[in-house]
Amino acid sequence: MDTKLAIDGGSPVRSEAMPARSLIGEEEKAAAMKVFDESIASGNAFGYGGAHEQQYEKDFVDFMGGGFADAVNSGTNAVYCALGGLQLDALSEVIVPPITDPGGVMPVVMLGCVPIFADADPRSYNTSVEYIEPLITERTRAIVIAHIAGEPVDIDPIMELASKHDLYVVEDCAQAHGTKYKGRLVGTIGDIAAFSTMCGKHHCTGGQGGVVYSQNEKLHWQARRFADRGKPFNIENPTGNVVAGINCNLNDLSAAIGSVQLKKLPGIIERRHKVGEAVKEGLKARKAVSLGWQTPDSECVYWFLRVKLDTEAVSVDKKTFCAALVAEGMPVSESYRHIHCEMPWFKNKAVFGVNSGFPWNCSDYKGPKDPQFKIDNAIAVTDSHFNIAMHENYGQQEIDDILAAIEKVENAYLK
Ligand SMILES: Cc1ncc(COP(=O)(O)O)c(C=O)c1O
Repeated sequence: MDTKLAIDGGSPVRSEAMPARSLIGEEEKAAAMKVFDESIASGNAFGYGGAHEQQYEKDFVDFMGGGFADAVNSGTNAVYCALGGLQLDALSEVIVPPITDPGGVMPVVMLGCVPIFADADPRSYNTSVEYIEPLITERTRAIVIAHIAGEPVDIDPIMELASKHDLYVVEDCAQAHGTKYKGRLVGTIGDIAAFSTMCGKHHCTGGQGGVVYSQNEKLHWQARRFADRGKPFNIENPTGNVVAGINCNLNDLSAAIGSVQLKKLPGIIERRHKVGEAVKEGLKARKAVSLGWQTPDSECVYWFLRVKLDTEAVSVDKKTFCAALVAEGMPVSESYRHIHCEMPWFKNKAVFGVNSGFPWNCSDYKGPKDPQFKIDNAIAVTDSHFNIAMHENYGQQEIDDILAAIEKVENAYLK
């Protein structure tokens, strides 16, 4: 192997692109065509909440091993409807993850509630109980946790804390379909869970989609009503729409694709897990690079690989190290700094218009108007880690190339 780094003009470890994901195939096409054929034959446009959506929800529940599912039109709206199902009063405080997609935080403010940012565990993009506990006030009503990168949060201690303070726990499983924590599927542990099924996730319902999942039937119906303009689902002798909500429904075409995808999901889970574990194992031979620390007793279904660089052990900064990996043909992104209390929308309180400052400025809100959150760990962990994109179609060659590229770059820069 050429030891001269590609960034310095050497030949790269890998010159061909990583394999395509090919998530959508002939089976999904056939399922979609069937929906069209049925529509054409009946003369009625396909809709939502029909046989295909009911089937997808049933398939999803089977995958989760029981419970209740409501298919919605995005992961963001799955978080929104999961929280909506909790029927929180406006101005309730909701503890949110330090590092996540905006769709995992913004639903809190869209419900007129106040997000309180927990710091990350210093070793992980995820939070943990010790960073949540000090944030609880008499205004706290719920905790949202996100299993980022397919790595589970250490959730049992959080459930214990929540039960002590009578708080709901919402699991954001957007990046963690099939991930297990102490042998249990994530999404089955908290009170209610949200999944994203957009095209980049472990399984998808086409371009966009999501699922609200719960084992609590009451919360399920509350979320389902909220997700469809307060329609009085499962209410005896209804007199009309019971709560205000918007239309977050999925549709039968997307659901038909989702059912096919759920058949593929177990294989996807197995392969993603294997690839991640192989890289984790291979990196044990490295001095400066390792897979990020994980909650003990986890079975990660990786959405990307979160990789730690010991910058003390190398002669370059993380940016240069990552640039060298990219030059070797690796799909590396240098930073996952999705810390939303740093974002302009949060700092400028640009939620209900750009001037109202609601919910923080509301006179009925007794918490801090300009909250400052301690996110030192979240910043440090995003500074010390980088991400490698991966998916279930990576095989031995891709694993070998990732390990070879890291070895080559590490050898070049090791102090
Ligand atoms: C943790 C997390 N929550 C919520 C979302 C929002 O999902 P969607 O993009 O389907 O709206 C995402 C999307 O990537 C996510 O990663």
